[in-house]
Amino acid sequence: MLNDSSFAIHPNLEKDKEKEIIFYDIGALLSFEQKGNVFHILCENGFVCILFYRNDIVRIVMNQNAEPSLVSSIACIKQPEHVDVQVKKIGKETIILNTPKLIVELHPSPLRVQIKDQNGSIILAETKLGMGYTNTNHVYCFKQMDEDDHFYGFGEKTGFLEKRGEKLTMWNSDVFAPHNPETDPLYQSIPYFMTVRKGKAHGLFFDNTWKTTFDLKSYEDCYSFSAEGGQLDYYVFAGPTPKDVIEQYTDLTGRMPLPPKWALGYHQSKYSYKSEQEVRELADTFIEKQIPIDAIYLDIHYMDGYRVFTFDKANFPNPEKLIADLKKAGIHTVPIVDPGVKKDPEYHIYREGVLGDYFCKYLEGNIYIDEVWPGLCAFPDFSKTKTQQWWGEKHAFYTNLGIEGIWNDMNEPAVFNETKTMDVDVIHENDGELKTHKEFHNVYGLFMEKATYEGLKKLLNGKRPFLLTRAGFSGIQRYAAVWTGDNRSFWEHLEMALPMCMNLGISGVPFCGADVGGFAHDANGQLLVRWMQAGSFIPFFRNHNNLQSIRQEPWAFGEKYEKMIKKYIELRYQWLHHFYTLFKEASQTGFPVMRPLFLEYPHDPNVTNLSDQFLVGDNVLIAPILRPDTKCRTVYLPEGEWINYWTDEKLLGGKFIIVEADLSTLPIFIKRGTMIAQGSVKQSTKIPETKLEIHLYRNDQGVSTYRLYDDDGETFAYENGDYFLKTLTCHQSERSIHFTITNENETYKPSWKEWNLVIHLVDKPVSLYINDKKIGQENMSVDLAKKTITVTLNESFA
Ligand code: GLC
Repeated sequence: MLNDSSFAIHPNLEKDKEKEIIFYDIGALLSFEQKGNVFHILCENGFVCILFYRNDIVRIVMNQNAEPSLVSSIACIKQPEHVDVQVKKIGKETIILNTPKLIVELHPSPLRVQIKDQNGSIILAETKLGMGYTNTNHVYCFKQMDEDDHFYGFGEKTGFLEKRGEKLTMWNSDVFAPHNPETDPLYQSIPYFMTVRKGKAHGLFFDNTWKTTFDLKSYEDCYSFSAEGGQLDYYVFAGPTPKDVIEQYTDLTGRMPLPPKWALGYHQSKYSYKSEQEVRELADTFIEKQIPIDAIYLDIHYMDGYRVFTFDKANFPNPEKLIADLKKAGIHTVPIVDPGVKKDPEYHIYREGVLGDYFCKYLEGNIYIDEVWPGLCAFPDFSKTKTQQWWGEKHAFYTNLGIEGIWNDMNEPAVFNETKTMDVDVIHENDGELKTHKEFHNVYGLFMEKATYEGLKKLLNGKRPFLLTRAGFSGIQRYAAVWTGDNRSFWEHLEMALPMCMNLGISGVPFCGADVGGFAHDANGQLLVRWMQAGSFIPFFRNHNNLQSIRQEPWAFGEKYEKMIKKYIELRYQWLHHFYTLFKEASQTGFPVMRPLFLEYPHDPNVTNLSDQFLVGDNVLIAPILRPDTKCRTVYLPEGEWINYWTDEKLLGGKFIIVEADLSTLPIFIKRGTMIAQGSVKQSTKIPETKLEIHLYRNDQGVSTYRLYDDDGETFAYENGDYFLKTLTCHQSERSIHFTITNENETYKPSWKEWNLVIHLVDKPVSLYINDKKIGQENMSVDLAKKTITVTLNESFA
């Protein structure tokens, strides 16, 4: 029938219907002009802008159709600083833009951008290929890849630590299927990486929210990054150390505010603790067994028919009392909140959403409806300021009940359809600058976190909110901690959690962790013990598992395992103060709490792809056992001398060693010269610290420093100077140890009244001085067997 109409000559009926992809190079440079701090370049096939944000950060933007827009995505919070750029022309050919830290060379025919460091060594080069685009409006950039280039970052990715040889896609995705090395993408999109070449590092952030791909696989000598739309908009960070790159990237995209202390404790979760009684029994068991705990999570069953901002009246008849009782016991309640709002004309949130015009819609005006846990749902359009405000304010429902932490899930957004997400044709109003979901998808979760964080912050009257999210984009660290979604109780997934969290850490997200014990599948006693051991040193420490999986609370597999698990939860609390100090550092510098070894030892070829051990801060090395029935493993100790935490045995670094570790032992090594604060075991962080110990693993020579930080642990008062900071500096020689304790700030008085200095490795007599005062034998307690000296520090030293 159709053949009777014009359909018979429809262009799609032509044999070769597939659109041929044509690639356009940006072409030759035609003109170059400086306007203010922006360099404008017109090329044969498009427009390019270059501007410096700092001496060591440059932004390059290509638009094939028009002058580039310099509006950045939500990821960036930094405005360009004033940078003195010297512009030189070499002959008629090359244009050179010079800052004290970066040299950008523009070679004209065709335009190729070479970026060099302050010494004139190339960090990023373009040769045959440079910038370009296709007739389908995909944008590309190719860079040369050196034999010695190693790639890290890219946010939340499976596989080993180093990503050379991988092709990685950024498209926030809900993946319940087992996460294996080829599972990509997952829930987070962080289009950023750093390259380490012969110990020196530089970084690159591709600020494009469309689906992006990083191809480090297809060619031997070059890699590419590309997007399915938008501009080619990227930033280059000069390094030159890996830590410099992180500092530069997080200056651009923001740093994590200091979390409340309780968020650093042990958290217990399950899909789901289904009633008030079950939650109370759970809390009581922790308390009876004296296993420390700071938070219990409520998964989707707490709600009335999975309607967010409600409680199921039958199973949770008195949430206010439950939450208050738990809080009294030092346990915070963290409920889950998903973005899907049940389509139910009698449900107040749905009504408000429709009447207030807060939901995502098609261009034609109809609300986008699709299925998640509650059945058919509408989804808040978080791109609109008014939706953000509405959603934020709705959290009064939780904060009025005493809640201070929210767990956001399914915010990719996950939808139960074939594409697993929202129709990409849905429109996000974005305060007038409309975007399709295709463009907005990767930032949907980040906008949800912004709305939730800002709402909670207002509602909590000065207290710090805690947010946990599954989805995110670059900049997510400003609002939320990240967990790596639905892993499984596989030994391989315990192993994978390490490089995944290390890469998240170097991608600006210091507060991250994987479901301890594994989410899906069934754990067993041995696996849970080993996972708890690793988890106790991973920044976010939460045990969570699935509806159908067998239970995996610390006591689930019997007393033998419970005892070992308890030991490591307790250890976390002993180390909590040290963690807090590292979180403080992360909030100021962006440096992760959990670090791959190359961050501290970038010149050491043995750590290039070391995926099964990590550092906590710069000098504590954790090497978990990651295999069943295994009581030993190889551990790489970088240069220097290391101390076995459990035995104080001295070990020479710069080599691999074999370490014995029975089921109750997590291998931990401390670099000589390190200081660490240790507190006492307590039921929760609510119990004030009464005694703090500063352990020095003494060296025969050299200087060690420690910045001991504390504040009230729950408010923003520290931002107004209400904190405690002492710098401990220690000059060591074979015969003497000189401590200098400097009070940097004492506006906040910590809870501990007593603090001790514990000096390890005292195998020969030493003289000890504190602030130039010699400490007499009568003021020291010497343990000859342990080879330690303990001194109680009192006011006269501080
Ligand atoms: C998702 C989450 C998981 C949660 C479940 C039910 O699978 O990743 O953590 O328990 O949804 O809410």
